[in-house]
Amino acid sequence: MRALIAGNWKMHGLAASASEIATLAAKMKDAAPTDADVLICPPATRVAAFTAKFSGSAIQFGGQDCHADPSGAHTGDISAEMFADAGAAFVIVGHSERRANFGEGGHNEGDADVRRKAEAVLRAGLTPIICVGESEAQRKAGAALEVVGAQLAGSLPETSDDFVIAYEPVWAIGTGLTPTLADIAEMHAFIRSKTRIDVRILYGGSVKPGNAQEILAIDDVNGALVGGASLKADDFYQIVMAGGGKQ
Ligand code: PGA
Repeated sequence: MRALIAGNWKMHGLAASASEIATLAAKMKDAAPTDADVLICPPATRVAAFTAKFSGSAIQFGGQDCHADPSGAHTGDISAEMFADAGAAFVIVGHSERRANFGEGGHNEGDADVRRKAEAVLRAGLTPIICVGESEAQRKAGAALEVVGAQLAGSLPETSDDFVIAYEPVWAIGTGLTPTLADIAEMHAFIRSKTRIDVRILYGGSVKPGNAQEILAIDDVNGALVGGASLKADDFYQIVMAGGGKQ
């Protein structure tokens, strides 16, 4: 299955950031057709402009979160239909920076909210990237599989299998720490046992050019969700190339 290398820009990116994407697109132009699918999820303010500007490239664009309703009195929120209207192909839902119980930055979203958002993304004709992952305390307590199992049971859509799952251990996000390759393999095999064979399961959490190859070589790792290293075209391109070797 073709790998998906997705960049989550979080709250980074202005109009001038188009230059990083232009550099990435130029590097990708000569890449073999077997290379990975490439997605960038910039701030919502840039989705329409980047989609239009890079329509001739192989780079797709997506949202980082959405509201579950198609429209309504929800000041400041953005619906999946609005992302579709802006040209997005995917929307990330359930990132740990939005889920409840993951620290002060959390937005109090539980599994049921994440499922509603994922179903909203499907309703809009886009593909949800549904994030799951345990905290450091949960891993240390030996509860990682149980926690992720419960998140999957509570957040995957019930109406369709057309989604991507991203396993992101919360303690590995932005810290430079990663689980052992054996722990990633164990978790991805576990997630695979709960999903269809052709659902892409991404790994996320401190993916860098230096570790992308070995992580992407693991069975049932079908791509990566990349935060910090997706902001620099040179770094992200190396991760894209590591994903291109995966078929
Ligand atoms: P990171 O973030 O690559 O900076 O660790 C990953 C994510 O939060 O999606």
